[in-house]
Amino acid sequence: MSKKRIAVIPGDGIGVDVCEVGVEVLEAICSKLNLDFQIDNFPYSAEHYLKTGITLPDDEVENFRQNYDAIFLGALGDSRVPTNVHAKDILLGLRFKLDLFVNFRPSKVYDENLCPLKGKTKDDINFVVCRENTEGIYVSAGASFKKGTPDEIALQESINTRKGVERIIRYAFEYAKNNNLTKVCMSDKGNAMRFEGDLWMRTFKDVAAEYPEMEISHQFVDAIVMNLVRAPEEFEVIVTCNLFGDIITDLAAQLQGGMGMAASGNLNPGKVSLFEPVHGSAPDIAGKGIANPLAAVMTVQMMLDYLGFKEASLLAEKSVLEAISTKNVTKDLGGNLTTKEVGKFLVDFVKNN
Ligand SMILES: NC(=O)c1ccc[n+]([C@@H]2O[C@H](COP(=O)([O-])OP(=O)(O)OC[C@H]3O[C@@H](n4cnc5c(N)ncnc54)[C@H](O)[C@@H]3O)[C@@H](O)[C@H]2O)c1
Repeated sequence: MSKKRIAVIPGDGIGVDVCEVGVEVLEAICSKLNLDFQIDNFPYSAEHYLKTGITLPDDEVENFRQNYDAIFLGALGDSRVPTNVHAKDILLGLRFKLDLFVNFRPSKVYDENLCPLKGKTKDDINFVVCRENTEGIYVSAGASFKKGTPDEIALQESINTRKGVERIIRYAFEYAKNNNLTKVCMSDKGNAMRFEGDLWMRTFKDVAAEYPEMEISHQFVDAIVMNLVRAPEEFEVIVTCNLFGDIITDLAAQLQGGMGMAASGNLNPGKVSLFEPVHGSAPDIAGKGIANPLAAVMTVQMMLDYLGFKEASLLAEKSVLEAISTKNVTKDLGGNLTTKEVGKFLVDFVKNN
């Protein structure tokens, strides 16, 4: 297999700490399995923006598109950049410019003790959320009128195209089919957001007709968040818009043990895609060396799987399972190791297994 090139953007806060561990584990796996990976670091972050005024140059996006197989990103967000312009340009910029239309977020419990729900087992929580990633409320279309006056008006538009809605729904069905799953649930708020809901519902039914073997359902977003807590075992594949996917997946992350456990992929299937832990830069724990790196390692696992390296992906997952079952984890999971110590444990596991 030809050499794979990975662009790493550690970003801000704990993004830097967890990316370091992710890369160490990736390098250990490559060395163990003789994989030819080139891993290149890129400085785009709040710090870089404050020093240079540059968020993410357009020619770098082209460089990623043409010369890289995947991007591994830590997290973005820093109080020194209150507008968050760097995060918008880098993360949303890459999502839009590379047309990463799938935000793929699995929720799987690796240890029952990590799940906050009473009486739920590993078998009960194992679903994926396919969040639309390039449209909806995130296109930032809107306006303010009479700003700062008592008559101020704010408009925020949610843009949904037939093409955009159809391709994420089709991705969800294809994912279900290719992974021997049978349940696809679409979530929206069609009772209040009528025009958007109408497009999503018609498209869902049209695409579902191509997959008669699937059991389909629809839940309003307020109902699905309730049901994910009440009966998570009812879900296999959830497909939803950008905004509701953002909300549902934070809940999903908690079901699997918290923000330190949740991985995500921003995908344009078959093309360069971006992988990142779901969590942000966590300013409350940044610089303390206690960030949980497992979400970042599961992100590496997802990236390896996406690139077709099944054995490598499995090894990454096994190292995480071992860290959890032996309690070689950070404080948020009930352990007492630092980020770096967890990294060392994972690397040693990879070397010796
Ligand atoms: N994709 C991204 O880069 C991304 C995502 C979400 C938030 N953000 C940004 O991150 C900053 C902080 O946002 P937030 O506080 O709402 O969300 P956050 O995910 O950074 O933190 C939420 C809570 O979870 C904890 N947490 C998160 N990751 C953890 C980990 N790996 N180990 C242990 N604990 C962890 C934090 O300590 C915090 O208490 C903001 O600037 C926000 O805009 C970025």
